[in-house]
Amino acid sequence: MWFIVLKVEKFLIFTKNECILTKEEKYLALLPQLESLLEGEPDPVARMANLAALLHREMGFWWTGFYRVQGEELVLGPFQGPVACTRIAFGRGVCGTAWKEQRTVVVPDVEEFPGHIACSSESRSEIVVPLWHQGTVAGVLDIDSRELNTFDDIDRRYLEKAAALVFGPQRDIWLAAGCFWGAQKFFKQVEGVDFTEVGFCNGWVESPTYEQVYTDRTGHAECVHVRYDPERVSLQKLVRLFFMIIDPLSLNKQGEDEGTRYRTGVYYGDERDLEVLQKEFRRVEKRLGVAEMPVELLPLKSFFRAEEYHQDYLEKNPNGYCHLSPTLFKKKKKL
Ligand code: SME
Repeated sequence: MWFIVLKVEKFLIFTKNECILTKEEKYLALLPQLESLLEGEPDPVARMANLAALLHREMGFWWTGFYRVQGEELVLGPFQGPVACTRIAFGRGVCGTAWKEQRTVVVPDVEEFPGHIACSSESRSEIVVPLWHQGTVAGVLDIDSRELNTFDDIDRRYLEKAAALVFGPQRDIWLAAGCFWGAQKFFKQVEGVDFTEVGFCNGWVESPTYEQVYTDRTGHAECVHVRYDPERVSLQKLVRLFFMIIDPLSLNKQGEDEGTRYRTGVYYGDERDLEVLQKEFRRVEKRLGVAEMPVELLPLKSFFRAEEYHQDYLEKNPNGYCHLSPTLFKKKKKL
């Protein structure tokens, strides 16, 4: 009899944790817990240790841990799960690649990733998120799964937020300023901006290609994701720079580029940013003498990173088209 009751209870717990909550709901519940767990503890290794423990337990990962940058290597830090490799060179494996390329790397099948380092033959898929500290990558959060295709854009988004807790308050904002090539080049040069990537935001199609977005039928805007250190650059300054590079009275057209994908907008991931953003929008409207501008100010609903050839496009193609005048890049430096 007891055996049956215990079995039922176990099933109910399983149902509650695994079936009722979606992955996104689990992350949403977990983030405030992580924040309060870390409160008052300044030591990054202690923060990593508790982050790894809570993430691992609550999300049911198979291996969850940190590697810290030490010289030219990543050195194993606090982790949960089976024993792991202790040192990884810059640019090697998934971890070294995330460090070198300064971006999150999602690997659906580790056997397909050239140079993957197999600390365990049981690992089948993996996600590695860089940890930013004072404008450089200071380590990585690495999570492994024994299943294929475990990690997606939801994991990326929330694990980036979790990883940002290790060293402090990095912030994100998504800016649609017409063609994303020039906008990325512009924001990348701003002191205090640690990371930029271009992509497509607030549409209704999952993981769209550039060609799909180009039809204007997916609802996305071309957009730059800007991650910044608020101790070095304020959100207010970023929004002022944003208004410097757009024509805020032009609907769905910036420079020669026309279409809803070139609409302008500021998209926030944190409600706390809204006050500053609204104030800046009102300030510009007042200056232009209009009641409302055709510039969106909305929560970020979705963001999909664009294909690699769009990233840093103007660095790879210095003669590529850009609707921003070259003088703007110089002007920005004076600000
Ligand atoms: N697979 C990683 C090595 C670290 S372990 O997964 C814990 C890589 O390729 O970098």
